[in-house]
Amino acid sequence: MQGQALPGFRDFYPEELALRNAIFTTWRDVARRYGFQEYDGPPLEPLELYTGKSGEEIVQQLYAFEDKGGRKVALRPEMTPTLARMVGARAQALKKPIRWFSIPQLFRYERQQRGRLREHFQLNMDIIGEPGPAADAEIIAAAIDIARAFGLGPKDVRLRVSDRRIVTAQLAGRYQVTDGEMPGVLAGLDKWDRNPADADAILRKVLPANDPRIGAILEFMSGLREGAAELRRSEQAEPLNECIARLDEMKLAEFVEVDFRIVRGLAYYTGIVFELFDAKSSLRAICGGGRYDDLIEQVAGIDLPCVGFGMGDVVLGELLKEHGKQVKAPTELDAFLVAVGGEDVAPVVQLAAELRTRGVSVEYALHGQPIRKQLELAAARGAPRALILGPDERKAKVAIVRDLKTGRQKKVPLTKVRKGIFK
Ligand code: HAM
Repeated sequence: MQGQALPGFRDFYPEELALRNAIFTTWRDVARRYGFQEYDGPPLEPLELYTGKSGEEIVQQLYAFEDKGGRKVALRPEMTPTLARMVGARAQALKKPIRWFSIPQLFRYERQQRGRLREHFQLNMDIIGEPGPAADAEIIAAAIDIARAFGLGPKDVRLRVSDRRIVTAQLAGRYQVTDGEMPGVLAGLDKWDRNPADADAILRKVLPANDPRIGAILEFMSGLREGAAELRRSEQAEPLNECIARLDEMKLAEFVEVDFRIVRGLAYYTGIVFELFDAKSSLRAICGGGRYDDLIEQVAGIDLPCVGFGMGDVVLGELLKEHGKQVKAPTELDAFLVAVGGEDVAPVVQLAAELRTRGVSVEYALHGQPIRKQLELAAARGAPRALILGPDERKAKVAIVRDLKTGRQKKVPLTKVRKGIFK
């Protein structure tokens, strides 16, 4: 069939858009409760904003091309580099800590699968200019509170948190992973949870293929769950422990699990990292984020610590459907106007225009139809009432207001109806 959407891109029919809008409304509501301001940036960016910063995987997934002016450009695959540039450009003027959120549509040429598309909308919440774990706790709390706002509890979703400083200290100390090898090794370990074979394949690319460290590192990953308590006593664990203590004060600790197997795939994370999952773990992460203290320095040459997360609409939407949280497309009509005969059409059109000016939402048939047909359309639209206008009504300066649920009807003076009063 011609004219189908591209693979991985969605058409939003009204029911689907209703779900998306409901998600956006909750996102904005929770962001507001945490004192975040909304911003946006351009969907098309210079290619170099991503190369060398976001990491290999996301760069391979870019929708990149040369524009007509010969510039190398890319559709944004994530918001964080744009945010870093925007904040970097006005760093002096902005009051720190900056609390900003955005809901961009993002584009990644991914292998399409459940919960993974080639476009998605992603809530981004970031705190900039605060290096301490209180900011990390605030960001994590917001992510959990979004789940709570959708009616999901600690039995439904789990927040798994780790700290790259702890994991990288282990990898460097035990296996002599160098600074140069570290981003690749972490990108590989990020795959371990879903598919250890993918992790193995990536490690074989970033380390020499026969390197005995590969097996040892993968074994270390598989033992991380049991070894968590010991690692939390290590010197580097202080920020993580403080962050968790804060979440405990906020009464959110029951959502939280320390899990050092969470390392995150993107290259720029430098500290605490976390992901929110459905408790059954049948879906991919609902949200992921962490601390990235060097990115603004790389993008804009200004030293500003940051922590934030991205939460996509795709996995969240699937989870809400699984939990039976269906959203109906809202019907916004206040009334459907019915013209009894041809000579009633002009007065109906005039009445519709007057009501719309007053902010009342109305519809009427766009070509001559029997009353029965017009009432059928009114019912299909979910209008609560019909306003019927015929020669007798016009003479008496009234309209018949018919309740479309009960079928009851009464005459109401046109002077009232014109003001949007239907009783
Ligand atoms: P990310 O882990 O790449 O992080 O994406 C965050 C979330 O966006 C994922 O957990 C998932 O829900 C959703 N998502 C990502 N890719 C897709 C896709 N292809 N289809 C559907 N949903 C997807 C980032 O993007 C970071 N920039 C987040 C961040 C903000 N870190 C700090 N601040």
